[in-house]
Parts: sequence; structure tokens; C-alpha cells
Amino acid sequence: FYLIFAIDGAPIGHKEKRFPSAIIIGVKKAGTRALLEFLRLNQKIHAPGPEVHFFDKNYEKGLEWYRNQMPETTWNEVTIEKSPAYFVSKSAPERIRQMNPKMKLIVVVRDPVTRAISDYTQASLKKKRLGMMPSFERMAVGDCSGWLKTNCTAKTRGVNANWGAIRLGIYHRHMRHWLNHFPLDQIHFVDGERLIRDPASEVASTERFLGLEPMVHDADFAVDPIKGFPCVRRNDQTLHCLGKSKGRKHPNVDRKVLEKLERFYQPENEIFFRLINKHFSW
Ligand code: A3P
Repeated sequence: FYLIFAIDGAPIGHKEKRFPSAIIIGVKKAGTRALLEFLRLNQKIHAPGPEVHFFDKNYEKGLEWYRNQMPETTWNEVTIEKSPAYFVSKSAPERIRQMNPKMKLIVVVRDPVTRAISDYTQASLKKKRLGMMPSFERMAVGDCSGWLKTNCTAKTRGVNANWGAIRLGIYHRHMRHWLNHFPLDQIHFVDGERLIRDPASEVASTERFLGLEPMVHDADFAVDPIKGFPCVRRNDQTLHCLGKSKGRKHPNVDRKVLEKLERFYQPENEIFFRLINKHFSW
């Protein structure tokens, strides 16, 4: 009979709060909550419920505060957190590297046009000014004066590229900061579009990236007949979907505006694909 100890001397099975070894750093409105909830189907993956925002908003609280936000895990389990605002934070890349240069980073990206509409839908609801906020079309390509700090007549290829919802989707600009601090092979990209169509395969490749054997399979999912998004199917055949703030109804956007945005993003997407050496279908 042996008592087994992990390499750090603690008995195997001992639970404690540990720093994450992986972080979902973005991108906001690309499916980050869905990815995290689906990863948690793997019993070896544990995460705090709310977004921690340590490396952007709570840094002065110190590392022990950060560790305290984490769930208790055993040595062979994976702690992960997600704070999509890190993606656009100037200080997060350097701070994360300082804490752990081996940190695994996960980035969910989706078609930036859909992401911008999702962002707009959230912003207009959040600020409870739906009806007051100009239409998506006006914000994206029209006269947005009074709504943006920048000059709304100075457009880039006909688009208000300074509007946050548009700017965030120029992924390569933000990604460059991360690549100044982390090698590409430490960053895993999840296709947010495929996460909706085929969640099991995106989750499985993320589990592998985390060094785990995939435990999440097609049979774990079923499509919500109302919203059309995948939900988790439990053993008792009940469906568990993300909350009402996920999978919202988007406004219908004028076809010409959509096409203009697609043309605007196309060269930016190409730069991003080259930068990360991976291509997506959008
Ligand atoms: P919408 O609510 O605008 O459709 P995040 O969690 O990063 O904020 O992303 C939210 C988006 O995730 C949602 O935006 C939705 O399109 C997408 N999503 C992906 N998988 C989903 C799922 N299974 N259920 C609900 N939304 C999902």
C-alpha cells in the first residue's frame, strides 16, 4: 500500500486554489461563454463562474487575490479563466507573461461582421437606450456624430472604423500585441462560427490543446429549437442552454451595408489569417 504524492510533495487528490494554466483572452461576443461552459463538461476542467478581469481591472489587488478567485482543483486538473476584455487590453499581454510565460492562451474569433452586430445588440440593450441609439447601419457606415468621440466624416473604405464594435473586429491589430509576448504555438484559435455548427469538434481540439483527452462528444449537444444554438444535453435528456443574454435576436441589417462591411473586413481578415497561420471561412 503506497500513499502517492505529486511532484510538489502534496498528496494526490489534495485540492487547493491554483493559478490558471490557460486563459480565454477573447474575443468578446465571439462565443467565449459557450466555449467555457462546453469545456467544463470535461470533469478535469475547472473555472471561476464570473469573469475575473485580473490583468485589466483588478491587477492592483495582487496575485493572491487572483488565486483566490479560482476554484479548488487537484494537481492533475486544469484551471482556466475567461476575461474577453484582455484581448484589447494594452497591459494584459505583458502582465500575463510576467506571471507565467508558459500560459496557454485561447482566442475565440468569429466573422467580424456578425460579431459587430452582436456587440451593437448588447450595447444598445445594456444601456437601455434601444430606440434612442442610432441604427446599426448609421453607426457602422453613416453619420455617427454625437455617438462617437471621433470624427464621423473620416471613414475608412466607407466604414466608421473607429467605432469600437468595428475596431475590435480588426483582429490582427490586437493580436500583434499578444504575439510580441507569446509564441504562436502557445495560442489556440477557436472558430466561433464552427462552435455554433459543430461544438464538439471545436471543444475537442481545445481539450487537446490543454493537454487533455477529449471527453466532450457530439452526443453531449442538441440544438435549442427556439434560438437555434447548441445546448448541453444531460444524461436525463434535459437541455441546458446558455442564459438569455446569449443567442439574442439581432436586428435585420441592410444587405448593402453588410456587403460594405464584408469588403471592409476582407483585407483585414487576410492579414489576420497570415499572422496566425490559420484560415477561417469568413
Ligand atoms: P449573440 O447573443 O449576439 O447571438 P460571448 O459569450 O463571447 O459574449 O459571445 C456571445 C455570442 O456567442 C452570442 O452572441 C452567440 O451568437 C454566440 N454563441 C455561440 N454558441 C452559443 C450557444 N451555444 N448559445 C448561445 N450563444 C452562443
